[in-house]
Amino acid sequence: MKYELIPSTLFKKNRKKFMARMKPKSIAVFNSNDIYPISADSTMPFQQHRDLFYLSGADQEETVLVLFPSALDKKHREILFVRETNDHIAIWEGEKLTKEKATQVSGIHTIYWLKDFDKIFFDLMTEAETIYLNTNEHYRQAVVTQTREDRFIEKTKQKFPAHLVAKSNPILQEIRGIKEPEEIILMQKACDITEKGFRRVLNFVKPGVWEYEIEAELLHEFVSNRSKGFSYTPIIAAGNSANVLHYIENNRQCQKGDLILMDVAAEYANYSSDLTRTIPVSGTFNKRQKEVYLAVLRVKNEATKMLVPGTIWAEYHKEVGKIMTSELLGLGLLDKADIQNEDKEWPAYKKYFMHGTSHHIGLDTHDYGQLKTPMKANMVFTVEPGIYIPDEKMGIRLEDDVVIQEKGAPINLMKNIPIAVEEIEQLMAN
Ligand code: GLY
Ligand code: MN
Ligand code: MN
Repeated sequence: MKYELIPSTLFKKNRKKFMARMKPKSIAVFNSNDIYPISADSTMPFQQHRDLFYLSGADQEETVLVLFPSALDKKHREILFVRETNDHIAIWEGEKLTKEKATQVSGIHTIYWLKDFDKIFFDLMTEAETIYLNTNEHYRQAVVTQTREDRFIEKTKQKFPAHLVAKSNPILQEIRGIKEPEEIILMQKACDITEKGFRRVLNFVKPGVWEYEIEAELLHEFVSNRSKGFSYTPIIAAGNSANVLHYIENNRQCQKGDLILMDVAAEYANYSSDLTRTIPVSGTFNKRQKEVYLAVLRVKNEATKMLVPGTIWAEYHKEVGKIMTSELLGLGLLDKADIQNEDKEWPAYKKYFMHGTSHHIGLDTHDYGQLKTPMKANMVFTVEPGIYIPDEKMGIRLEDDVVIQEKGAPINLMKNIPIAVEEIEQLMAN
């Protein structure tokens, strides 16, 4: 791993929270992700399943975590199964988790080799009445492959038809949504790496550069700072490309007078940051660009103030919609008749701002977290309003990541990343 060792206290706390919510005589199992194939013997780079990582810190394929708080044998209350390593594997694949290292990373004392899983798991299941299965209930999930977890679920339901079944996902949605101090530190680190990338780019962007050259500058800075790279596929969109919300080709040349929207950020230790900045290719905003930019910034600032304990996510979006509507009237993009005739299900402002303002962020960029109950302290949200005007070949979005506080305004993890018009113009002039 490129990142520095994370204190295992984090994973111990996370397991404790999960286990405190389990039913009596129940067992929970979490599987790592597969390494996904490309073709022949090529594979995608490994990405750990975030739930397994959250509960164990194990960042290796073919890993299984078992939690069984009422196990009669105390050493079986937490078990981590890892792939057996040996000298031969060490030569071909490098360092893998030994039993000692697995304990150091996770704080779990009982480590077994994966080859012994079936036998040990059968024995544990004879003591258990309920098995927690980890299905993916994220509100945006659209998975078409069968994951390692899915295979486990299928096999387990077949082999143990008399057990009761419970869902891990609601527990994880609840606890992963509220971040521990160790997690905020890791997320701040991801944001700080993103800041370095953005400052580098401010010195690089000028008419004639290609979007992919900007992507390369960012990746260089991220990896140089112990990040694996982008926390999501980067969007580097000059001119009218900014009006394609998921533009990821990044293959056009930046022209004088264009704005360039960059929704790009670094991961660190599997934690995401999520940044958007929109800057002028030539180094200065023209009058209209500045007018629209400042409108987006005002919406962002007002929206941020509403991210406090007690806010309901859906209500918050309605309020942001009202603020945006008034800005769009000010910009002459909407008129009073547009508002009077608007469809309440798809208000007029959505013509220029058609996506959400905030999502939970953490181990996943669009993270777990409760959305239907009031917001709580230490939830981390993005704030990302935008105004998209294809007729003016301009799209502006601004996005920061903020931590809800018990009292007062949220803390902005990206407060040091330049956003004021004057600061951006000044830095680009240097
Ligand atoms: N970068 C993805 C998002 O802003 O949600
Ligand atoms: Mn976002
Ligand atoms: Mn983003």
